[in-house]
Amino acid sequence: MERIDLQRGKFITLEGGEGVGKSTNLRFITDWLREQGIDFVQTREPGGTPLAEELRELLLERREEPVDPTAELLMVFAARAQHLARVIEPALARGDWVICDRFTDATYAYQGGGRQLDGSLIAQLEETVQGALRPDRVLLLDLDPEIGLQRAASTGAADRFESEQQAFFKRVRSAYLARAEASPANYAVIDASRPLDQVQHQLRLELEQLL
Ligand code: TMP
Repeated sequence: MERIDLQRGKFITLEGGEGVGKSTNLRFITDWLREQGIDFVQTREPGGTPLAEELRELLLERREEPVDPTAELLMVFAARAQHLARVIEPALARGDWVICDRFTDATYAYQGGGRQLDGSLIAQLEETVQGALRPDRVLLLDLDPEIGLQRAASTGAADRFESEQQAFFKRVRSAYLARAEASPANYAVIDASRPLDQVQHQLRLELEQLL
């Protein structure tokens, strides 16, 4: 029997540039979900299934061969299609919430903003791969990349994206903010430069609105 739409879980994504504190805040969000007794799946992009995790490795690995931006974009969406079919859609259909560390907003930010690919190409792929599925709420941790990159630098060797120049990350940040500005009802922009307790206070308020 088909389930009615009301029983679908909520789809929340966490976004932001490098070093904005996604991991710490992800833990805060999953702790909150547990406190509420909500069944949820925590996952990430690129990745979330064995095949998509392999694609992630290919995407993040630093390599001699320059990666064509369109090839990069298609790999991101290949991983996403697999992740949606195998993990996200089944979870939402059974009523679980899904909390995903990055999703298609990261594609608009990194491949659209960072790599300067045409947004309409991304929108076409989004339509093809996701149909009507969009996050119920995007939690965007916003931080000046100058600060973010300093924070990220202290957490190990830089991957292929982290090795980009500051101008790239400035474009990433602008693309994220432009998307949030264009449809404010779907985004919570959280100033990640503030002390952690203030960031998490806002996160809690945003999450409570979803109940
Ligand atoms: P992270 O999980 O540590 O944030 O690393 C994932 C990297 O992949 C990050 O640098 C952003 C990048 N990325 C894209 O370029 N496009 C995408 O669509 C996604 C989901 C991630």
